[in-house]
Amino acid sequence: MSASGAAAHAVRVITSPAEMSAWSDAARARGERIAFVPTMGYLHAGHVALLQEGRRRGDRLVLSIFVNPTQFGPQEDLDRYPRDLPGDLAKAAAAGTDVAFVPERAGMYPPGHQTTIQVHGLEQGLCGATRPGHFVGVATVVCKLFNIVRPHVTVFGEKDFQQLAVIRRMVLDLDLSVEVIGLPTVREPDGLAMSSRNKFLSPDERARAVALSRALFAARDACQAGQRDAATLLAAAEATVAPAVTRLQYLELCDAETLQSISKVDRPAVMAVAAFLGQTRLIDNVRLG
Ligand code: PAJ
Repeated sequence: MSASGAAAHAVRVITSPAEMSAWSDAARARGERIAFVPTMGYLHAGHVALLQEGRRRGDRLVLSIFVNPTQFGPQEDLDRYPRDLPGDLAKAAAAGTDVAFVPERAGMYPPGHQTTIQVHGLEQGLCGATRPGHFVGVATVVCKLFNIVRPHVTVFGEKDFQQLAVIRRMVLDLDLSVEVIGLPTVREPDGLAMSSRNKFLSPDERARAVALSRALFAARDACQAGQRDAATLLAAAEATVAPAVTRLQYLELCDAETLQSISKVDRPAVMAVAAFLGQTRLIDNVRLG
């Protein structure tokens, strides 16, 4: 049972894709606009901001929680990815969510599945280069979720900038009829981008992790003050990040639309970073120019 617009109400949990589609078809038949926020759960304030935006943009709000195995590499943290379904449902209820779609692995990937979606250009650099196959897994599962949930509007975070670009491109290229909204990154008071993976950081790693956002903000300030040379901006950012992290995976300055590297900030751009603090991989980005 759910009541659209209530401040806190019980969230209906649906695990079967067929039941999810039937719910959405009924809502659509009543003329209701469906907003959808896909997640892997362990919700934090960044996810909640997406839910609140979805709440504003739709008559009905659907959240999905699915730790999608196909977007994790063999050496990655699929098995230890944090989970807290009761906590997630409480946060979802407070944000006015009508349905939490929580499919099982076998429901999303029945035996014999063999179709994938690849957004060829945009997935090449940044996280795509260091996580081969990651964006094929993301695009495929998000397309499947769109087909199951049938939303009018969907909300993603700019925290995963490349993911958002890949999803926008897929929606355009495959004529998917869903409006894609991107929201700014929600941060901790000291600037660290909120992430489900922050819980893995030791106190020391947590203290050092702030170097990522600090370096990006300094680059943004320098750019605003007139520094447009990518090499100069990147060198300054690297000098802040590299000593603080266990391993800097990439630090790049890219065209905000194509995600191609640029040498001068003469168009909308994004500086993006990925780094390991101990075993934990963190990403962040800011827009420049
Ligand atoms: P997940 O990492 O759970 O993120 C779900 C959504 O929350 C994404 O759109 C992500 O960009 C957004 N998000 C994460 N941290 C945020 C922050 N600090 N501020 C604002 N938004 C934030 O991204 C995924 O899951 C998966 O790849 C998914 C799209 C669900 C496909 O499996």
